[in-house]
Amino acid sequence: MDYADEISKRRTFAIISHPDAGKTTLTEKFLLFGGAIQVAGAVKSNKIRKSTSSDFMDIERQRGISVATSVMGFDYNGLKINLLDTPGHKDFAEDTYRTLTAVDSVILVVDCVKGVEEQTLRLMEVCRMRKTPVIIFVNKLDREGKNPFELLDELETKLNIHVQPLSWPISMGTSFKGVYNLYNNSLYLFRPGGVTVATDVIEIQGIADPVLDQQLGDYAVQLRQDVELIAGTHNPFDVNAYLSGDLAPVFFGSAINNFGVKELLDTFTGIAPTPGSRPTNQRIVQADEKDFTGFVFKIHANLDPRHRDRIAFIRVCSGKFERNKMFLHVRLGKNIRFTSPASFLGARKSIVDEAFPGDVIGLYDTGNFKIGDTLTEGEKLMFQGIPTFSPEVFKELVNMDPGKSKQLAKGIEQLTDEGVAQLFTQQQGNRRIVGTVGQLQFDVLQYRLEHEYNAKCRFDPMNIYKACWITAEDKLEMDKFCRFKSDRIATDKDGNIVFLAESEWVLRNMIEANPGIEFHFTSEFKREMQDVKK
Ligand code: G4P
Repeated sequence: MDYADEISKRRTFAIISHPDAGKTTLTEKFLLFGGAIQVAGAVKSNKIRKSTSSDFMDIERQRGISVATSVMGFDYNGLKINLLDTPGHKDFAEDTYRTLTAVDSVILVVDCVKGVEEQTLRLMEVCRMRKTPVIIFVNKLDREGKNPFELLDELETKLNIHVQPLSWPISMGTSFKGVYNLYNNSLYLFRPGGVTVATDVIEIQGIADPVLDQQLGDYAVQLRQDVELIAGTHNPFDVNAYLSGDLAPVFFGSAINNFGVKELLDTFTGIAPTPGSRPTNQRIVQADEKDFTGFVFKIHANLDPRHRDRIAFIRVCSGKFERNKMFLHVRLGKNIRFTSPASFLGARKSIVDEAFPGDVIGLYDTGNFKIGDTLTEGEKLMFQGIPTFSPEVFKELVNMDPGKSKQLAKGIEQLTDEGVAQLFTQQQGNRRIVGTVGQLQFDVLQYRLEHEYNAKCRFDPMNIYKACWITAEDKLEMDKFCRFKSDRIATDKDGNIVFLAESEWVLRNMIEANPGIEFHFTSEFKREMQDVKK
């Protein structure tokens, strides 16, 4: 098979949802269709349900599972599908955001009873920012949910994207009859607990077909009205609007009953984009370029505390990754060879000899990688758009065992490389400040520092609202500002200067009062800085 065929065979995507909307259930059904698993219940989600400190072991156990399910590869209809898992827990949201940088499209699951929830909004924001094509699956139609028209309205207004139903539910809850496929004019009858079988799919000669009345009785009348209304408000489905991230097709179904799932998967494989081009700090890299490029979007510690090695997950962006070939680690300026890169099929891990654009490989790492690192065949470029969001919770790291300060320093250094938290050093007093997106991260950090690095610590709350990087054209002005706010100045791990604002009000005031100082809120800025420093 030639290189272009390998690329066109690949679909790399993530399923995202607010916790409990049905992401794990849908993932499992996809894997069943793809033959990657044989029985339901085989996929343990990467979600962490509880967040109290007594659940450390649970967290660790679940983290272990999440390594195995980080990437689930399976074959379907001659295509190679890479499904990237995302954690459900909101404290791991940053992990999810970064995973979204490694996919080409997304399936968003929404619970028909709850509608658009908080996590859905945030995840969708990231997709919109990146113009990622999105298909929406409205789940749990076997329950009494919101009116489907209201749901469409809610999706459109809250998610700020045009939506277009490609299937339409016929009633819901206990009287749920099935869905009418608006894309290919067929009727799918609902059979609780089972897979849709051939006799449940009925070809219809248009919405006036009397077969509808035979099959649905009085529900046919409502369906006709609904379909007429949809036809009046939507143009025929435009696949290009979907591919450009402007229009999200919507499907209805019930993941637990395996209803509407195959239709979703078939449409997804039919319209989802193949691996696309990606921006770097130098130029746009096209997937079909001959030379290999890829970037690290996730780092996962191994669970064995005796070996502190980790797995860095790389998304192949162009060319062919080959085992034992030398690649340039651009940030370190160092050539590295990988002897046992791993690929994933279902929950099984195996050594791969080669990988193509869209694929994700796991590289064993002893501390060379940070999130966002780029590998190439020699070209000095860095992939962009791998966001680090400003942390939301800040705490001071306090050493509880003076004899183990080296272990603590090394531990926090390595764990923050994994992207679970950001580390800042406050200039005054050399205090170490850890910023995360949620409380759970601190529990995980404290546990791992103790068990993997033998270092005991405590995290003390701090009065910080936001950390933002600051720069200025005029060095004198920068020095003046840093002196003036010296108790609020810190450096990040790369030595960049950071302003720690205690409140939104202070931050706004500082921005207004210091036009010569630029305040930055994303890590993309850091990447630019790294380039300047080189
Ligand atoms: P998540 O990964 O998005 O967090 O959701 P998950 O698939 O774990 O589903 C959350 C709950 O919703 C599960 O129930 C699951 O069985 C249920 N669910 C998923 N799809 C459907 C559906 O189509 N209809 C209905 N009625 N329920 C659905 P649970 O009780 O929390 O867990 P479990 O004991 O069933 O595993």
